[in-house]
Amino acid sequence: MTSDKDLYLMAKEVLKNAYAPFSKFTVGAALLTESGEVFTGVNVENSSLGATICAERTAFVKAISDGRQSFSTIAVVSGEGAVLPCGICRQFMFEFGDNLRVITGDDADHLKVYLIKDLLPEGFRLER
Ligand code: THU
Repeated sequence: MTSDKDLYLMAKEVLKNAYAPFSKFTVGAALLTESGEVFTGVNVENSSLGATICAERTAFVKAISDGRQSFSTIAVVSGEGAVLPCGICRQFMFEFGDNLRVITGDDADHLKVYLIKDLLPEGFRLER
């Protein structure tokens, strides 16, 4: 059973793999599936700045590529502490459900918990 604290610590652990030579703002994410697996991700920047991918989307793309589509919680942390997902990531994650829990914090004992539907009110979703 992966606790919020465990997930946060996994996001923090993967920070070292972030590729952020331009902003120097490293971000790590750890995504917990409904079945209890964890997929991590980091931000990967690019000389063509718009090609940058955030840590949250890296984790989602890894999980979806491996066949998972049901998610419970994502922990996100930056090298500077708590960080909330950007607008693109909010939209990207909202695609997979209203009730994804998003956790962040400056340290593992002071976590803030949000629901994606609160971070992206009235979010856009096409009929499937
Ligand atoms: N970034 C993330 O990876 N996730 C966030 O939640 C916020 C922003 C990255 C993108 C870019 O590499 C750097 O942080 C600065 O914007």
